[in-house]
Amino acid sequence: MKDEIFYIKGLGGKKTLKGEVSICGAKNAVLPLFASSLLFDDEVKFNNIPDIEDCLRMSEILEKLGVSVIREKKGQYILNASKTNGKVIDEEIAKKLRASIILTGPVLARFGKVSFPHPGGCVIGARPIDIFIDGYKSMGATVKEKGGLYIIETKNGLKGANIFLRNPSVTATEAFVMAAILADGETVIKNAATEPEIMDLIEFLVSCGAKIKGEGTSTITIVGSKKLLKARGFSWRVVPDRIEAGSFLILGALCADNLLISNCEPKHLEALTSELIASGVPITIGQDFLQIKNNAKISNKKFKSFNIKTHEYPGFPTDLQAPAIVFLTQVLGESNVFETIFENRLGFAEDLVTMGANIRMLDAHRIIVKGPSVLKGRELYGPDLRAGLAFVIAGIVGKGESRIHNVYYIDRGYEEIDKKLRSIGVDIKRI
Ligand code: EPU
Repeated sequence: MKDEIFYIKGLGGKKTLKGEVSICGAKNAVLPLFASSLLFDDEVKFNNIPDIEDCLRMSEILEKLGVSVIREKKGQYILNASKTNGKVIDEEIAKKLRASIILTGPVLARFGKVSFPHPGGCVIGARPIDIFIDGYKSMGATVKEKGGLYIIETKNGLKGANIFLRNPSVTATEAFVMAAILADGETVIKNAATEPEIMDLIEFLVSCGAKIKGEGTSTITIVGSKKLLKARGFSWRVVPDRIEAGSFLILGALCADNLLISNCEPKHLEALTSELIASGVPITIGQDFLQIKNNAKISNKKFKSFNIKTHEYPGFPTDLQAPAIVFLTQVLGESNVFETIFENRLGFAEDLVTMGANIRMLDAHRIIVKGPSVLKGRELYGPDLRAGLAFVIAGIVGKGESRIHNVYYIDRGYEEIDKKLRSIGVDIKRI
């Protein structure tokens, strides 16, 4: 892993950024969509795929399973799983990519067996896999643990089942939807997650003939057919990344005069836009764009604070919690932040304190932010991709130079982020 560093010269509270940023396809939609190629016996085409590390890692795991992954041109991929018979999910890559767990659904359903290590990923919490294990068991599979690997098997294929998720897990919902398509009979997933990335997966699968009802609600019904799907040349455009769009909106609110965020899906971001608008940020919401206009004349200190309680969609996304906290350090008033999804996602706030933020840590899930405060440039080590980008935003709004390490994490989720930032006026170098 290369240790690249971002050097950022802070704007010291000035709002000089301007221009347009175009939003990429969503990382967390691409990962399950790529995994779904295993449900097909012909090629599937996807476009609007970002050039980011996590998509490359998912491509590598699929290739090791025997799937052909071709990057036709920028943003456009063709995947063909017609010749795969791989049942072993690559241990080394899976330990680096939590989302590799999604593959267990289609591999198990197609081949009756899958083995994989406990998946890795960011250090944002315990991230157990009990919901996956229990779900596959209820579909008739047996689960063994041997030599650090899970081995899940079925004798005569998966059976449709009634699966209640004790937590509305995003990747578990995706894995069960995919497994159920090749299972025998009907599967009902209750307390399912409803994130837009899951909708993207389901809409794609339905377009290719899968029988799925209830997407967008917490009860999803899938009628399995034990038959592989056929895409017949169909090409799917991946939904825009709401987290990238939301992060640029927060950056724009703090540092831009005029900023156009194009090719996004504002209706997926209402939890954030409603708070920012109530706070006083001049945002125009279009069909596929968000715009900040004439913002330089409003001091950040005039924006009002708000409380955050992270929640499954359509609530406030945990993936926007970190940049939103940077926003709250700059505005007037006290904010309570309650991270309800992950146990370890507020640790980065201690680094904001070293920059000058007034933040009180109550416990692993709760902090109080008191604004406004001047952030001073520092040397920072991003613990995961979302906190890493929050440090970048803190560096830009702050005073002096910041050096952000672990750029690798940021590259996992954001395509050419430094180039995009430079194009709107940020002084950022990658060294
Ligand atoms: N959970 C369990 N048992 C399980 C699975 C999950 O208890 O077997 C718990 C988790 O510990 C957590 C809650 O359920 O408390 C929700 O976690 P979820 O399973 O939904 O998270 P995930 O599917 O692993 C996805 C995104 C994350 C995003 C979360 C929450 C992908 C590939 N990842 O993770 O994205 O934060 O949903 O919205 O879709 C990121 O992109 O930076 C990222 C971490």
